[in-house]
Amino acid sequence: MLAGRKVLIGITGGIAAYKSALLVRLLVKAGAEVQVIMTPSASAFVSPLTLATLSKRPVISEYFKVETGEWANHVELGLWPDLMLIAPLTANTLSKMVHGLSDNLLMTTYLSARCPVVVAPAMDLDMWKHATTRRNMQLLEQDGVYVIPPATGELASGLFGEGRMAEPEEQFEWIQNFFSKSQSLSGQKVLITAGPTYEALDPVRFIGNHSSGKMGFALAKACAAQGAEVHLVHGPVSIPVPQHPQIKVYSIRSAQEMFAQCELLFPNMAITICSAAVADYRPEVIQEEKIKKKGDTLQLNLVKNPDILKTLGHAKKPHQVVIGFALETTNELENAQGKLHAKQADLIVLNSMRKDGSGFGTDTNHVWLVEVGRVRELPLASKDHIAESIVQAIIEIKDEKQV
Ligand SMILES: Cc1cc2nc3c(=O)[nH]c(=O)nc-3n(C[C@H](O)[C@H](O)[C@H](O)COP(=O)(O)O)c2cc1C
Repeated sequence: MLAGRKVLIGITGGIAAYKSALLVRLLVKAGAEVQVIMTPSASAFVSPLTLATLSKRPVISEYFKVETGEWANHVELGLWPDLMLIAPLTANTLSKMVHGLSDNLLMTTYLSARCPVVVAPAMDLDMWKHATTRRNMQLLEQDGVYVIPPATGELASGLFGEGRMAEPEEQFEWIQNFFSKSQSLSGQKVLITAGPTYEALDPVRFIGNHSSGKMGFALAKACAAQGAEVHLVHGPVSIPVPQHPQIKVYSIRSAQEMFAQCELLFPNMAITICSAAVADYRPEVIQEEKIKKKGDTLQLNLVKNPDILKTLGHAKKPHQVVIGFALETTNELENAQGKLHAKQADLIVLNSMRKDGSGFGTDTNHVWLVEVGRVRELPLASKDHIAESIVQAIIEIKDEKQV
């Protein structure tokens, strides 16, 4: 599984750095190609000679050698790996990653890397708990970096708590899992719609809905993790939009704008996931001036918006997969099945408003996957986890179409 996989291991200046020698050994034994980059301070914790011997490649640490003018090309290094792992990740390198500071070879390579990046933080418990570290870890994950969380145990300082780097065997298992399940969508183009649409009434008001965009963004990250080229069309949201080299973002406001962007992209897409909460109707006229308060009632004339899912479902070619989302409050499964048929979709993801922990704005969800002749329930889980399960179901549908 790891044979021929290229793994770049970044080692920073933490006491756990010595453990990375074991990880290098495990990876090389499994057939992976391993290149080690160390920060200047890391070599005080583990010897480059040990790592060069185990990885069978010279360890790189400096931008260039003063004596010879020989220099390490961080752009090439960034393009080389299938996966980049930084272990241990110090608080110092964490904050550099979050702010894009590139004052050493590991950082410039990180900023040039096109592959997925995973980190294994290692810190003393108070450093790990510090508000700055919490904030930085959140930002790092928003940037699409994976985290192998630290364990709780005895720390090098003699204290006991959370912050101990995940053991090399656990990191090895993470890497194996990553390669076994990932890249199923490598080279595939995926269109995802997310969030609400806002339908303007006048220059200051709109008709909108409570969709947060969380589910669609989780899907975008899950598809990117599988190697897909993701095109994410989203409405107005207040959460951070995923930043990932594999995700191209298009920000729109109204259903008509979302429709126009989707129509442009759709012909080249292998998979389309319509998870946005698109307004069914929009005001017939957008008033040029703010509507004044006058009578006790106000009549609004609404006209139908284009049905994005239906249009794309009916236009799809045999090799294309189209997925829709449904939110029903009555006869949920029956209505979702009707929608599957009416929209010519391959799968409807049915959200429930009745279950605790699911629906708008929550971090968790509980859904049903509705296909022709098959319904599967995905119990309450984080939206990231649900997204991974939905993507697995989509991969199965795609594989069945190719048979
Ligand atoms: C003995 C010793 C152990 C250290 N262990 C850690 C650690 O586990 N985690 C951490 O974030 N910093 C640790 N530090 C501090 C880092 O070495 C320091 O912040 C350094 O600037 C990190 O540089 P780098 O991120 O470029 O490798 C340790 C320092 C010393 C002297």
